[in-house]
Amino acid sequence: MSVVKINAVSVPPEQQARFEERFRGRAGAVEKTPGFEWFELLRPLEGTDQYLVYTRWSSEEAYRSWQSGQDFDRAHAGGGDTLAPAAAASHHLWSYEVLESAGPHAEQGQQA
Ligand code: HEM
Repeated sequence: MSVVKINAVSVPPEQQARFEERFRGRAGAVEKTPGFEWFELLRPLEGTDQYLVYTRWSSEEAYRSWQSGQDFDRAHAGGGDTLAPAAAASHHLWSYEVLESAGPHAEQGQQA
């Protein structure tokens, strides 16, 4: 059963541009990791000030081995500016398991 790990990060308005810029320059290692299934960076529009870093994995073990490995550390080395400590003070890791999921059916008009 797949698991979803969401890092919810509160980013002050004056740091949002820098936060998004850092993700544009992200390491790109996660997509080569065994058991990795999906990543999205979600920017808040209303109802919250938290960005969500959504990741989905084939198993808890797959997530754990990425999170405890060198790729995670490298992806978060970040160049030592002020963003990481500020954001780190207000982040939460949420864990879910995927009970059901769906995408569009091919016969409903999604063509390559
Ligand atoms: C202290 C907590 C964390 C902060 C402040 C943070 C922030 C960031 C930032 C700013 C980046 C962009 C790269 C950089 O400039 O460093 C990044 C990359 C990333 N973060 Fe986090 N992060 C944290 C923990 C986590 C956790 C627990 C997860 C697990 C869901 C996660 C998932 C990711 C992923 C998937 C990437 C992209 C890695 C890649 O491209 O290979 N982060 N994070």
